[in-house]
Amino acid sequence: MSGSEMHAVRVAEVESVAEGIKRFRLVPLNGGALPAFSAGSHVIVSMHGENGHVWRNPYSLISAPGDTSAYEISVLRAPESRGGSAFMHERVTPGSELAVSDPVNLFPIVRLGRKHILVAGGIGITPFIAMMQELTAQRAEFELHYAMRSAARGAYCDQLVQQYGSRVHLYRDELGEAMPLASILKQQPLGTHMYVCGPAPMIDWALKTGRAAGWPSENLHSEKFSAPPPGSSFTVKLARTGRDIIVGAQQSILEAVEEAGIDPPYLCRGGACGQCETRVIAHDGALQHNDDYLSHEEKASGEKIMICVSRTKGNSLTLDL
Ligand code: FES
Repeated sequence: MSGSEMHAVRVAEVESVAEGIKRFRLVPLNGGALPAFSAGSHVIVSMHGENGHVWRNPYSLISAPGDTSAYEISVLRAPESRGGSAFMHERVTPGSELAVSDPVNLFPIVRLGRKHILVAGGIGITPFIAMMQELTAQRAEFELHYAMRSAARGAYCDQLVQQYGSRVHLYRDELGEAMPLASILKQQPLGTHMYVCGPAPMIDWALKTGRAAGWPSENLHSEKFSAPPPGSSFTVKLARTGRDIIVGAQQSILEAVEEAGIDPPYLCRGGACGQCETRVIAHDGALQHNDDYLSHEEKASGEKIMICVSRTKGNSLTLDL
């Protein structure tokens, strides 16, 4: 990853924290400290499977900001896992060795915010676990509104209620509990910020609700890392070297070019940060833009692509790489 160091870590603890969700505690392999991070940061975890296959997935850090003795992450085993989350659940045990990138924060707390409304859906709780610790340390005012399909699938619920009491509000689909976001947002003092993390439809709904309530866009924050969706296999032609690379049905363009020994820049690997933006020189089929970074106009122009999550429906794509 351009500009980022990788750190060798050993898995010190693995704990099942909810249905399909495990917590991993990672300590530096050779002792010492890991880089400091602020709440909302994620790291890229690099996993080496059999046959030289490498997965690199982003995970939010849930451990206490300021604690550099270990990083903790939570991993949901994705139902449509392309391998990474299944590898973490099935193969990674205490003593396993992994590598993690430097932390990157694309979802920071706005320090001057008068109050903070945290809206989580499912595994989207993860960045808020560190955020609540940081907000508590700052004596800042906050509320957590956490929606989940069922109590069994909600991670850390008891712990959060115990730690933060009435600031935590839980909504379980199985009990018909719906988050009254419009009325929650109506009651907030001027200068409040809302942060949302969860499934894409929930993020869209929360942002739309915020806008409808008259909140300025600079007070509405979201974090959405999209997993690269599978598709048909196609050829990427690298214009700078003249090389042709096959992108497999389950691979992203970024993964395919990395496998070929090329190291394009990236930060999030989830279509959010803009680091992997690449110029499209030619394509013989429709581009399938899966990112949340490019504007509608940029997507329609067909001149740029985010290679971490987007692909083509055609057979060939020529890139400025
Ligand atoms: S790496 Fe962040 S958008 Fe591709």
